[in-house]
Amino acid sequence: MTPRELSDAFTAHFGEAPEVLAVAPGRVNLIGEHTDYNDGFVFPAAIDRFVAVAARTGEGKTHLTSAQVGDGNGFDAPTVAPGDGSGWTSYPAGMAWVLREESGKSVPNLDGYLNSTVPMASGVSSSAALELAFGVLWNKVSDLGYDNKKLALLGQKCENQFVGVNCGIMDQMASAMGRQGHAMFLDTRSLEIAYAPIPENLLIVLCDTKKPRALTDSAYNERRSQCEEASRILGVKALRDATVEMLEARKGDLTDVVYRRARHVITENDRTVAFRTALADGDSQQIGELMRASHISLRDDYEVSCRELDIMAEAAWDAPGCVGARMTGAGFGGACVALVDRDRLEDFQSIVTERYRRETGLDGTLMACRPVDGARAFTASEVQTVML
Ligand code: GLA
Repeated sequence: MTPRELSDAFTAHFGEAPEVLAVAPGRVNLIGEHTDYNDGFVFPAAIDRFVAVAARTGEGKTHLTSAQVGDGNGFDAPTVAPGDGSGWTSYPAGMAWVLREESGKSVPNLDGYLNSTVPMASGVSSSAALELAFGVLWNKVSDLGYDNKKLALLGQKCENQFVGVNCGIMDQMASAMGRQGHAMFLDTRSLEIAYAPIPENLLIVLCDTKKPRALTDSAYNERRSQCEEASRILGVKALRDATVEMLEARKGDLTDVVYRRARHVITENDRTVAFRTALADGDSQQIGELMRASHISLRDDYEVSCRELDIMAEAAWDAPGCVGARMTGAGFGGACVALVDRDRLEDFQSIVTERYRRETGLDGTLMACRPVDGARAFTASEVQTVML
């Protein structure tokens, strides 16, 4: 949907023109998986799949409707509190709560029309995109003056304390702080970002297994506590501060599972740092090896892959034009990300899709994605200027 189409859809639904439009992208993560809640390094890129919202301040409750899933549950933005939300509108409701808490100001109720091109349950952060879209929207409407980094932190707080998912900061930072043509090397401890251009000859290809992410929350929280246990035993603040040597020295004090979880995180941090150099040098072989090693470590040590993700990754590794591929996001279903030679995209797509279908019976979808800028909001008149 173009901004005009979104605006027209709003008007058709609510009978008046919108005042504000907001947009926030989903993300892929090139490498650095399950490192963010260990104060480590991640390497995501915001992608050209968006949650877009047209809105105006309204009478009564906040009424949101989605082009994809219809009406959401209403809520009262000036009073909503943890425990009140349900369904997909928990994310916007949580943002209203967190923005009020942080600013000490009220946020108004809205009528809103949403359109999303971020695949759901595919591990590309449709929920962070939803949080950030409403973050920038209310920030604009209520003139709260927050920058996008701050809104990312508030998005994480919304997810942790309102929605009840104990996620790290990667997804919100990617959706808030993405930059066109670039991935971002993010230090999740300092929140410092080093933007890294994606080389001209490479395309980011999202390889969606169409196996929805399952049972993620409890398994995710379990991984988190295993990491915390490992850092306690190793005597470090977070696994970011541990080395493989430290881990090996204390191996006997850890259960096998906790040892393997820690080994994944520690080696994944090292891989992420090495990947940054490999990408800058255009070193295809090294990029490929690091992404493959990341997938294998997530599969064997962290145990968050699944059959479909493994088959997709293996199909990608063997396909023409593939520089590197691995599962992306939390795991347990969802998608792989591949870096593919621009000139070989068609061959890559047809060979991977065909092999994946043969081995799983599922129709995976492969889509090339462009790295884009992070979340933004515009008033209706700004949008007209942008469109002219
Ligand atoms: C989810 C979480 C992120 C991160 C990834 C795994 O996407 O929201 O914070 O932990 O899983 O890397």
